[in-house]
Amino acid sequence: MLNILITGATGNVGREVTGLLSAYEGIRIATRDPLRARQTLGNQINAVSFDLAQPETFAAAFKGIQRVFLVRPPDVANVRQQIVPALNAAKTAGVEQIVFLSILGADRNRFIPHHAIEQAIAQLDIPGTFLRASFFMQNLNNTHRAEIQRGELLVPAGNGRTSFIDVRDIAEVAVKALTEDGHRHRAYDLTGAAALTYDEVAEIFTEVLGKPVRYAHASIWRFIREMTSRGLPLNFVLIMVGIYTTARLGLAGEVTDEVARLLGRSPISLRQYVEDYRSCWV
Ligand SMILES: NC(=O)c1ccc[n+]([C@@H]2O[C@H](COP(=O)([O-])OP(=O)(O)OC[C@H]3O[C@@H](n4cnc5c(N)ncnc54)[C@H](OP(=O)(O)O)[C@@H]3O)[C@@H](O)[C@H]2O)c1
Repeated sequence: MLNILITGATGNVGREVTGLLSAYEGIRIATRDPLRARQTLGNQINAVSFDLAQPETFAAAFKGIQRVFLVRPPDVANVRQQIVPALNAAKTAGVEQIVFLSILGADRNRFIPHHAIEQAIAQLDIPGTFLRASFFMQNLNNTHRAEIQRGELLVPAGNGRTSFIDVRDIAEVAVKALTEDGHRHRAYDLTGAAALTYDEVAEIFTEVLGKPVRYAHASIWRFIREMTSRGLPLNFVLIMVGIYTTARLGLAGEVTDEVARLLGRSPISLRQYVEDYRSCWV
């Protein structure tokens, strides 16, 4: 039996991966707070202490593990100091494959941490599977939940298109890569089946929720003002501005058929996602 370690297991994608593998015996989740993780994910879960800021937690977390699902936490930017020591520990422990949650375009953009992480995995000669995902649909029920509840979608993305993906699709691909053979030394560009403008997104919300949701076409300045006034840290807001500017410039609309090819079905549509998560906004 393969032993699999899931990092980021309490986060958006990791929680779905953990759910899909819940009946799998060799699963261990890595978290800074095992007690809280068990309360969220279920008492039966095998949880181990793991903190990228505490290298002394690495050896026990990786012991006996063959495959790892690796998530880079959003506030971890220094790859050399905060990620590479964990990768070294994985290598020392004999990990045979790392399935890394990366981001679409990571191979082309050397300024983002995901690029450096992919390179570090390759340099350590640990077989990798890079899941280069586009923009998560679930950002709409996390970061943008309150404003959509008020009937507004406030992002500075202009008329640019985004190929939104549902994290449940990413998780299903991750589980395939973690449990099947044939995914080592591969990179998958994972997107939804369509690239939508935020006017189209607002229209889908309006139809499914049965109440008007309007795309505010926010300027960058209004977006920064509104997000920081809600208490979001400026550096996090500036990363969001970068992401929405990419969409505004027409660079977030790439659609691939990787999800359909890997899962043998179409990716979850944005309409389906809004129907499934309806209770978040009503
Ligand atoms: N949002 C998007 O549209 C999008 C698109 C493509 C790629 N991505 C990438 O996806 C990643 C985020 O994935 P996500 O949204 O699933 O995660 P998330 O919901 O932001 O959760 C972050 C996870 O990281 C863990 N964590 C935080 N600090 C840690 C530390 N010091 N040591 C160990 N674990 C730590 C947390 O676990 P505990 O609290 O249990 O320790 C938590 O489970 C980022 O790298 C992001 O760039 C995002």
